[in-house]
Amino acid sequence: MDKQKIIIANWKMNLSPADSLILAEAIIAKLGEIKPLQARIVLCPDFLALSGVAKKIAGQSIGLGAQDCFWEPSGAYTGEVSPQFLRELGCAYVILGHSERRQDAGETDEQVNLKVKAALANSLIPVICAGETFEERQEGNKDFIISQQVSRALAGVKLLDQDNLIIAYEPVWVIGSGQAVAPEEAEHAHRVIRQVLIDHFSLAAVNGQIKIIYGGSVKPTNAGNFLIQPAIDGILVGGASLEAESFAELVKQANL
Ligand code: PGA
Repeated sequence: MDKQKIIIANWKMNLSPADSLILAEAIIAKLGEIKPLQARIVLCPDFLALSGVAKKIAGQSIGLGAQDCFWEPSGAYTGEVSPQFLRELGCAYVILGHSERRQDAGETDEQVNLKVKAALANSLIPVICAGETFEERQEGNKDFIISQQVSRALAGVKLLDQDNLIIAYEPVWVIGSGQAVAPEEAEHAHRVIRQVLIDHFSLAAVNGQIKIIYGGSVKPTNAGNFLIQPAIDGILVGGASLEAESFAELVKQANL
């Protein structure tokens, strides 16, 4: 992967398919005013909005991602979403193991691991989320928890030359809180994750095929502080990506 910073918008289950199209169009217009666009932009709408948003962003330098996928490519799995079908719709990325899925859908590290393998097998770039809860942090287990989540998500995962991977450090307790962690603290977590990745893969693979990004209450006012850190390759943005104006303001921080 190139050295370009990446900004991933996670719209979660906030927008209907129709509203997703309106926002995608507004974002395209706003980003068109930023020249040159320094960061790589990825939009992750609801599953039901993917095909519409894919058509809207066709021809733009904006990537498409899903917010989850199943671990089998097809078959008798009622209600699941196939990584292969996501690829067919134009997705290049898939968020996996987001803390909201771990909490609300009971997703386990083992399931995240299966999904990571399936995503790679279907030429999707997994965006694996890892982060500690407030209690884990208070107990002094932050680095251990992050390392464990990342290594479990990657158990048995091999990167072929064409594969890419993104790890998102997302402290669970700051998501949606309006208060991000200090950029220096995120950078420390990124160094912890980087060591796990080097132990699992190789320095060359980590430098060439993997990005480590930060997520959790990133806003236009603090995005620049994260994007400027050498160990932070980008940001995963929830709330501030739901409005074209604030998202474009945030994207501009990558140009500074
Ligand atoms: P937030 O969400 O930016 O609204 O905190 C980030 C995320 O959950 O990825």
